[in-house]
Amino acid sequence: MTSSSANLSSSLFSSSPTFSSPKLNFKFPSVSQRPSLPTVESRVTPFIACSSTISKSSGPIRHCSLSRRRGLAFTTTLPFLLPLYEFVDNVGAIAAESDQTDYLRIKEEISKVVTKGKAAGVLRLVFHDGGTFHMAENSGGMNGSIVFELERPENAGLNKSLKVLEKAKKEVDAIKPVSWADMIAVGGAEAVAICGGPKIPVALGRLDSAEPDPEGKLPQESLDAAGLKQCFQRKGFSTQELVALSGAHTLGSKGFGSPVAFDNTYFKILLQKPWKSSGGMSTMIGLPSDHAIGEDDECLRWITKYADDQNMFFEDFKNAYIKLVNSGVRWKNM
Ligand code: HEM
Repeated sequence: MTSSSANLSSSLFSSSPTFSSPKLNFKFPSVSQRPSLPTVESRVTPFIACSSTISKSSGPIRHCSLSRRRGLAFTTTLPFLLPLYEFVDNVGAIAAESDQTDYLRIKEEISKVVTKGKAAGVLRLVFHDGGTFHMAENSGGMNGSIVFELERPENAGLNKSLKVLEKAKKEVDAIKPVSWADMIAVGGAEAVAICGGPKIPVALGRLDSAEPDPEGKLPQESLDAAGLKQCFQRKGFSTQELVALSGAHTLGSKGFGSPVAFDNTYFKILLQKPWKSSGGMSTMIGLPSDHAIGEDDECLRWITKYADDQNMFFEDFKNAYIKLVNSGVRWKNM
């Protein structure tokens, strides 16, 4: 470990929060993710079903009278249960509101430090933290372990992007500690948004790992399309998601249009296969992995769709991104 990255790791590590006693389990955005309470209608169903299924055998009759008693008990306790439901729902609403406040605070601090010029590096951090996920081994994933992995060759340069986020994290931590995993997940979404990409809602509540993830889980840039597909499959991603996520390379300086515009230029340029042209700068466009998907028929079908329809790319990128930042996550209170 070099001394500068050792310093960074130790300063990153020392500011890592612990979540010793989280109280509530609701996340923002809350509505789609909150478990729904059983409705009154679904609870009384056994009682209604019983009255229409009485048979002569003793089993169902016993079941029926039991259900009837349960139904009666439920009817008499209903007036007391309803306020309880309301109470539980209010707690949920308050928790959701507090999660939304946390989310807005994190977003605001991130927007102070993540400029368009820094967006590519911050988005890349997301893949290098969450992309270590291995489904079958149940290892890796979005857990902030990147702070222990900065010395790995594939993570070269990412210490700068972490330092950018560290400033924002310190401000957030001073009010309420946030995990690195949440910080990076929200940071990447903001990086996409400020460069004109889709707005991606990110749930909060990821716990950080206290150790590095296993090595060798990120795809090597020299992989061919079959190798890339396999690698992504091990993380639970389809070919379509591989292609959509690779669209992140529209940011940065690999020759896919403006380095700070998140759009579908990546796919438009892949269709032209500039790396095949004879000589000149255009042969330098893209990474070997970009060329590999540009030469594969299955990938090409998605590349063509995304080149034709930016909205479709945005929607599919958003969904694949949410999957990436939820990969292998240990959530608070779960
Ligand atoms: C498909 C497999 C992938 C491979 C092999 C790969 C590899 C690479 C490599 C080698 C670089 C160049 C780093 C440098 O300039 O030093 C890069 C850049 C980048 N990657 Fe990937 N990547 C992949 C997928 C992804 C995904 C899924 C994302 C995010 C969702 C992503 C985000 C980025 C970004 C934003 C950059 C530009 C960084 C900058 O200019 O600072 N990559 N990638």
